[in-house]
Amino acid sequence: MLAQTPPMGWNSWNTFGPEIEESLIRETADAFLCEGLKDAGYEYVVIDDLWEADARVNGRLTWDQDKFPAGIPALAEYVHSKGLKFGLYSCAGTHTCGRKPASFGYEEVDAWTFAEWGVDFLKYDFCFVPPGVDGPSLYRKMGQALRATGRPILFSICEWGMNKPWKWGASVGGHMWRTTGDIADSWESIVHIGFERQAGLEPYAGPGHWNDPDMLVVGMYGKGNVARGGCTDAEYRSHFSLWCLLAAPLMIGCDVRHMTGATREILLNREAIAVNQDALGRQGYRVGKVDYAGEIAEVWAKPLVDGSIAVGLFNLGNMSGRLIGVAWESLGLDDRRPCLVRDLWAHEDIGVFTGDFTARVDSHDVALVRITPQR
Ligand code: GLA
Repeated sequence: MLAQTPPMGWNSWNTFGPEIEESLIRETADAFLCEGLKDAGYEYVVIDDLWEADARVNGRLTWDQDKFPAGIPALAEYVHSKGLKFGLYSCAGTHTCGRKPASFGYEEVDAWTFAEWGVDFLKYDFCFVPPGVDGPSLYRKMGQALRATGRPILFSICEWGMNKPWKWGASVGGHMWRTTGDIADSWESIVHIGFERQAGLEPYAGPGHWNDPDMLVVGMYGKGNVARGGCTDAEYRSHFSLWCLLAAPLMIGCDVRHMTGATREILLNREAIAVNQDALGRQGYRVGKVDYAGEIAEVWAKPLVDGSIAVGLFNLGNMSGRLIGVAWESLGLDDRRPCLVRDLWAHEDIGVFTGDFTARVDSHDVALVRITPQR
């Protein structure tokens, strides 16, 4: 059974866009091991668009020879030799978003090709779908074709939320589906995609099928394909905290061969990852939001399998040191119940509280805590 917890890995698009080639992918797989990403749970190494040659050969997709001289199957083998999984990209339309040949009308042959090459993950995009063609039916076709190969291939639906894929994604064989358009490396994009667009989608996620608010921009610092000014470490910390609470797939988008200390601390935060990967598989929900003249604070909560609750107190405004609190009652807890509160970024217990907990949170930062009811 695939994706029993949200998929974790890396995807080439956010930083590299068209600038992909086989040594980058090999070095990225190496970095999974030497940087501790694999140990932390990151598993899939995914090549996004623009790996393809300009035309099919004998009706089959093939790779760009300049970028991948040794070929995609050899690269998949290299990734597998590191104990990792290998992902690739195609599109439900006639062409990919980067105008390369795509899988419309070739679903079966392409699924077999991917299986033969050793692909474990397929991201399936939505550009150049002929007008009048029903989008969801194209995902159903590819879902069936992948299953027919007999190879377990994680099916990542990238339809940008156009036809509400949270309603049909799981039934066509999808393990995750994008809920919005593309993320960019800016705080505005994180707020729009993460805070504004995910609330309410929580009933649709669960083991085997997840809402996907797009790949992480943590650690990009304004460099790369989707860079739009970059973010501060506090903003990346908030972004990662929210994605963990949302039980979102954690697909890294930065260059993992060159991470800063702060990027490592964020992407390798085991306590935050444990919230994301919790076996209950519940997507977090928005507990509350206050907006005083644009100074927005939000509280999100994710129930965990041991009866504790992960809570994020987010300061989306410009004030520093703002007080943000959460009442037990709003979490469905008895307000007389003493609870241990642990700070998941400082990695220390803050203390035992009864009724509520309040933290001081700087601008665009977060307090991410785990609240555990005591006997
Ligand atoms: C679309 C997708 C992106 C990326 C590009 C590739 O925009 O949403 O995530 O895959 O296509 O061309």
